[in-house]
Amino acid sequence: MDAMQRIAQLRAEIERHNHAYYVLDAPGIPDAEYDKLFRELQALETQHPGLLTPDSPTQRVGGKVLDGFAPVRHAVPMLSIRTETDTEASGAFNFDTRVRNALGGGDEVEYACELKFDGLAINLRYERGVLVQAATRGDGETGEDVTQNIRTIHCIPLHLKGCDAEVLEVRGEVYMSRKDFNRYNDRQRALGLPTLVNPRNGAAGSIRQLDPALAARRPLSFFAYGLGEVRGWALPATHGGILDALQQFGLPVCAERAVVQGTAALADFHRRVAAKRDALPFDIDGVVYKVNSLALQRELSFVSREPRWAVAHKYPAEEQLTVLRDIEIQVGRTGKLTPVAKLEPVFVGGTTVSNATLHNEDEIRRKDVHIGDTVIVRRAGDVIPEVVGVIRERRPANARAFAMPANCPVCGSHVVREEGEADARCTGGLFCAAQRKQAILHFAGRRAMDVEGLGDKLVEQLVDERIIHSLPDLYRLDVATLAALERMAEKSAQNIVDALEKSKRTTLNRFLFALGIRHVGETTAKDLARHFGKLDVIMQADNERLLAVSDVGPVVAQSIVDFFSEAHNREVVQQLCELGVHWEEHDGVSTEPLPLSGKTFVLTGTLPSLSRDEAKSRLEALGAKVAGSVSKKTDYVVAGAEAGSKLDKAHELNVPVWDETALLDLLHGNEKHN
Ligand code: IVH
Repeated sequence: MDAMQRIAQLRAEIERHNHAYYVLDAPGIPDAEYDKLFRELQALETQHPGLLTPDSPTQRVGGKVLDGFAPVRHAVPMLSIRTETDTEASGAFNFDTRVRNALGGGDEVEYACELKFDGLAINLRYERGVLVQAATRGDGETGEDVTQNIRTIHCIPLHLKGCDAEVLEVRGEVYMSRKDFNRYNDRQRALGLPTLVNPRNGAAGSIRQLDPALAARRPLSFFAYGLGEVRGWALPATHGGILDALQQFGLPVCAERAVVQGTAALADFHRRVAAKRDALPFDIDGVVYKVNSLALQRELSFVSREPRWAVAHKYPAEEQLTVLRDIEIQVGRTGKLTPVAKLEPVFVGGTTVSNATLHNEDEIRRKDVHIGDTVIVRRAGDVIPEVVGVIRERRPANARAFAMPANCPVCGSHVVREEGEADARCTGGLFCAAQRKQAILHFAGRRAMDVEGLGDKLVEQLVDERIIHSLPDLYRLDVATLAALERMAEKSAQNIVDALEKSKRTTLNRFLFALGIRHVGETTAKDLARHFGKLDVIMQADNERLLAVSDVGPVVAQSIVDFFSEAHNREVVQQLCELGVHWEEHDGVSTEPLPLSGKTFVLTGTLPSLSRDEAKSRLEALGAKVAGSVSKKTDYVVAGAEAGSKLDKAHELNVPVWDETALLDLLHGNEKHN
């Protein structure tokens, strides 16, 4: 094979992996393999510079720093849509009436419903299937050429699969996922660098970054939602058809969409999406309804630069202004002191918020937050609300600066902040009641020992009244002691004792996680349990043996070694075991694949007896992957009561649907042999 052929082959293969990884979210090969292919391609292109093309996957990063962005005149203007912020009953649903009246008041009209992504609108221009230009919306007539930066977004194909239309302009939204946003900010905070205010600013800022290498470091994604100029491509009959075609071409199209008729169905879509808004991996600010038929869209046309065939229906904003009344210090499980903003209650992201995190002292200084300030609060997804900025102009004369206390507000121990660390810590250890409470709450948590009913109020009482000093004391509680507590009925006391009893039968990974070893999260605990199989092996493992576990690095290994070298920690473990905590052990890593390796499950609805977490962890323990949405890659969907769109999707894709009984059969059948 000559270099040209090999280059073509490598590009095709790398692109296939890119698509699987960034668009389908289903990586096909290990990173190391991918890197090997990539390096081989780079080497060949260096040897044969004449064969280098701008659409090679190696050309996503790199490129020179720009002086500015060239203007791009849009062949078809990029318009905006009318936005309604009303409640379900009216406003946006007058849309249906308006549309039907405009069309002569006849039959029901079909609508394509989709999400309103909160990012930056971009026009991608493909000529003969190759990405030649990417532009921002600008004023709708003229945008800016941001091709270099757009190329760094891995989920945007540099050329389309099976489309050689003369011109195909694809419009959509560049966004930053919440996970990428949080990860980026966590890292910035740890390095003492400025953080992004929200994912939208993150996306917009990165795209307007003049240095493409910097832009490449910001993790961005894209969803296609429409078209611009089209030449030499026969348009499908519907908007839904366009999105399907774009998806076929390899562009990312959001799966959360539906084609419906009638206002009740529009309301239903709005409600369904609202219910899962927090669980979505990215920010949205509403939903969009579009007339599905392109013929009807043409007939409806535009009024004052807005299409009459589309409307956006907003959700409550995820950022609001409010007044910072005070800053309190919260002491965490590991002694970390977190400054917490005490706010004038404000309705944000669908709930009333009166506390928000300020992360750490440096962050407060960087954002220049003073007590008394008007601040911007963000609450999006399931993360804790945070203060993301201040409105300097509204600072009152009596505003006060904040200083971290020198002593722990709970136990009075010294507060230290180690060189190079962003966080201040209380040195009290388990002497500090706050750390003790958090350690117990963590231990009893749903993902740890799962002691039902042991909430923060009760733990607070138990620690404050000196009934519990350490974790094993939990298992020494009896009904009489609990029932003697204020506001505790005999029945509830009995329930807690029963729940404690039930929690004694656990798994090694849950137990390890429950111990609260610094840096050992749920995933690491699972990796350790799978790798070693037995607790005493882990307790005796040195750094070297720990480093052999996948994803365990030096910091984690050292933290585990430190934890188990403390006599009192070993004592806690021993006492817990003596009190009856137990799990099954095995001989450590086997090279045999697990019984459900390679199988992907999706859980939906409420199962009669298993909780979602339990079903998930038992499936994962057998090697299965549990995914959040149904796709062609899903092997089975397990559905319970009130299963929604995932069940519909399963039927649509012919994915087998199981009930809990079938799942339990499978679990029992496999768990025995393990
Ligand atoms: S359609 C002519 N669909 O919202 C219709 N826009 O005012 C053009 N947006 O800044 C827009 N998600 O970037 C459409 N699913 C979606 C969208 C969406 C987000 C943004 C768009 C524009 C604004 C529309």
